Amino acid sequence: MTRRVIVTGGGGVIGRAICARLAQSGYEPVAADLEGAIPEGRDGFAYPFVTMDVTSTPSVRKAVASAVVDGEALAGVVNCAGILRDSFVGELDESKLDLMFQVNIAGMARVVEATADLIQDGGSIVNIGSLTGHFGRFVGASVYGATKAGIAAYTRYLASELAPRGIRVNNVAPGVIRAPMSPSMARVSGGEEVSANYAMLKRIGEPEEVAEVVEFFISPRSSFVTAQTLLVDGGVVAW
Ligand SMILES: NC(=O)c1ccc[n+]([C@@H]2O[C@H](COP(=O)([O-])OP(=O)(O)OC[C@H]3O[C@@H](n4cnc5c(N)ncnc54)[C@H](O)[C@@H]3O)[C@@H](O)[C@H]2O)c1
Repeated sequence: MTRRVIVTGGGGVIGRAICARLAQSGYEPVAADLEGAIPEGRDGFAYPFVTMDVTSTPSVRKAVASAVVDGEALAGVVNCAGILRDSFVGELDESKLDLMFQVNIAGMARVVEATADLIQDGGSIVNIGSLTGHFGRFVGASVYGATKAGIAAYTRYLASELAPRGIRVNNVAPGVIRAPMSPSMARVSGGEEVSANYAMLKRIGEPEEVAEVVEFFISPRSSFVTAQTLLVDGGVVAW
């Protein structure tokens, strides 16, 4: 049985935590991310890394080919590559709009297209969504939120299409997680303190708390769970 799992955005904050958690359970994560996403010389980065730009089909195909040795199967894929750019009404920037859809939605579809035949029957795909897809208080995040809400629908349709092969597809939707905030993220969320106050648990989450749930969905411990969106948000959306 193969243990290899491709993690897109694997050089990012949550992606790294996912690689670490999967490795802890005996999986073999391969991080796939933009060039430069991990430090030169791989300082402190312990997993195989392949360069992948999810906005480009040739790049995705090349990266998948080098992540998979001798056409061997994959245990799963984690679609974690994602970007947020603010999109306030009156300030809409076409390039930001296009990039969010290209990375967050179309990128996922490209990665699935390139890997679906390689995923072993009974394998698992985890898509990383966001609370923003299920919430309306982050003013300026409308387009990002639309892409992340789209991931919930994408997940359901993909789950139904791949179910005959026993492949499960789930969406893990994090709340605000401790990571360096981009200016866009700070602008739409109001910062860590404001974000913490939205949660029942009155704090933001840790990348490891997302990774734990991702590992559960990759593993056979969640063998009868598919087509689901699970918010890992400390109780923001339910409140
Ligand atoms: N941090 C949060 O609070 C939070 C909350 C909800 C959802 N998310 C989602 O979690 C995922 C990871 O976010 P993060 O906080 O670790 O951010 P991050 O910026 O640290 O990681 C995102 C990774 O995606 C990669 N990426 C961007 N464009 C890419 C492309 N074209 N091709 C391949 N890789 C690309 C980046 O290089 C980066 O390594 C994203 O999908 C994000 O939308 C994050």
